[in-house]
Amino acid sequence: MEFDRIVARRRMVRRYRNEPIDRHLIERVVNAGVHAPSAGFSQGQRFVVVTDAKVRSSIARAANEDSFASKGFDPWLSVAPVHIVLCTDPGAYRDRYSEPDKDGSTNWDVPYWWVDVGASLMALLYGAVDVGLSAGFLGAHAFEGLHAIVGVPDDVLIAGVVTLGFGIDDRGSQSVSRGRIAPEEAVRWEHW
Ligand SMILES: Cc1cc2nc3c(=O)[nH]c(=O)nc-3n(C[C@H](O)[C@H](O)[C@H](O)COP(=O)(O)O)c2cc1C
Repeated sequence: MEFDRIVARRRMVRRYRNEPIDRHLIERVVNAGVHAPSAGFSQGQRFVVVTDAKVRSSIARAANEDSFASKGFDPWLSVAPVHIVLCTDPGAYRDRYSEPDKDGSTNWDVPYWWVDVGASLMALLYGAVDVGLSAGFLGAHAFEGLHAIVGVPDDVLIAGVVTLGFGIDDRGSQSVSRGRIAPEEAVRWEHW
């Protein structure tokens, strides 16, 4: 698909058909996330791909899905046929920046492991649209006990969960009423 169409069509989808996704499609999306850039080419992004319905239910429970479903929202986490738990490993950055061509410090004002996992998130979201799927994202703040459910080591950080599937029109989130910022407001040319 043309890139500008992918950009225009991408949005966070919170309602899916209960229908499995071919593994090769999942792999295409996940590989887009793996291919994202990383500081020093540290490549600390990690992806736990979950298709098992029981584990997806556990993830949904960890996000207290029942409580938002009771407010009229779709139970999108348990229905979405694929969850990608998006992780980042600061240890990969410490290792990489200990190599001779680096200065040994990862005490950055901007922790690049978060920047890079954000780049992977974007690549996953666009990759989903490119293969005819939809994706959503629920931030890590919404979950309790996610590390244990999917066996992520304590020193690996979780950014959130990407849901993947065939999207159905949904009612969006409460944030959607804000409207999208105009480029003229967000972009300044030459100077702030
Ligand atoms: C870092 C990040 C965290 C987000 N967390 C949540 C979340 O916890 N729950 C949710 O429903 N949407 C979440 N979203 C989705 C945003 O609400 C959504 O991107 C925004 O409303 C704009 O809508 P659009 O992406 O469909 O254009 C998150 C998005 C980002 C980038």
